[in-house]
Amino acid sequence: MSFPSIRPRRLRRNETMRNLVRETRVGVDDLVMPLFVRPGANTRIPISSMQGCFQLSIDEAVKEAREAVSLGVPAVLLFGIPQRKDARGSDAYAADGIIQRAVREIKEKAPGVLVITDVCLCEYTDHGHCGVLNRNARDMASGDAVDNDATLELLAKAALAQVEAGSDMVAPSAMMDGQVRSIRGVLDGSGFSGVPIMAYSAKFASSFYKPFREAAESPPQFGDRRSYQMDSANLAEAMREVSLDIAEGADIVMVKPALSYFDVIRRVRDSVNVPVAAYNVSGEYAMVKAAAAAGVLDEKQIVMEVLTGIRRAGADIVITYHAKDMARWIAETAC
Ligand code: PBG
Repeated sequence: MSFPSIRPRRLRRNETMRNLVRETRVGVDDLVMPLFVRPGANTRIPISSMQGCFQLSIDEAVKEAREAVSLGVPAVLLFGIPQRKDARGSDAYAADGIIQRAVREIKEKAPGVLVITDVCLCEYTDHGHCGVLNRNARDMASGDAVDNDATLELLAKAALAQVEAGSDMVAPSAMMDGQVRSIRGVLDGSGFSGVPIMAYSAKFASSFYKPFREAAESPPQFGDRRSYQMDSANLAEAMREVSLDIAEGADIVMVKPALSYFDVIRRVRDSVNVPVAAYNVSGEYAMVKAAAAAGVLDEKQIVMEVLTGIRRAGADIVITYHAKDMARWIAETAC
């Protein structure tokens, strides 16, 4: 062999050496744990398509949030399943809506956890769309079911109700044009200029959301979400959505889903100077759980590889249903 010998394997000889040169780590501080909150007490209803996840009554959500804190997971992201749904998603912005009540309890009884609230109408509307429906029959017939500008006002009301209840950060996910500007304006005008917005900026119309829609009881009752969520083939458009959201006042931008969109995460990370979040969504979680349950894959190894990959792609923050397990595994490897 000629001198110098080229041997990349020198740096892989043992665990200590590998640890020394490791480029990417998933820290427990980077994780956000989603929770589904429903009415009732003392209730945990298993979500069959998302093994290990539950619809939780508020008292149970408080327990989960406390556990997150004890494991070092800094934040929870709340989704609500209201008692009643209607055409305008009223529970999303009612002072005693399910999320507003959950936020108050969690802030009081699980101090220290950052409470992030999803801002959308799909869990609250009886038709399951993310905004109010168009009055124009022609738009409806063409598949463009949702009235953008009429929805903006309701999203801003929902964000304000959440923040008044104590939410630490709002996360608009309805993919309406101008939603960040509208929410920022209302929060600023109500004395909440210090509350940040994490925008679901590049949110693709994805089949990976299917288990979530069972979990949140929010599938659209007709049509689909392709007239507002993005076409999965589009990278340039994702960049446009991200720039618009930052211009409108987003403090953190998000790419969602994560695994089929690593190029989008990377491009966003390299192009902006705000934190980037990636959402490891319900279908991505369900695939790993199903393969693990079938004995096809090792769950711990796969989850570590998946979450490390999302960080390596460029995400600073990872929203994942694996958060509690991951926190435990990170703690194990640290000792
Ligand atoms: C909706 C919302 C969805 C998710 C997060 N916020 C569902 C959708 O757009 O249909 C999906 C999250 C997941 O799949 O884990 N407002």
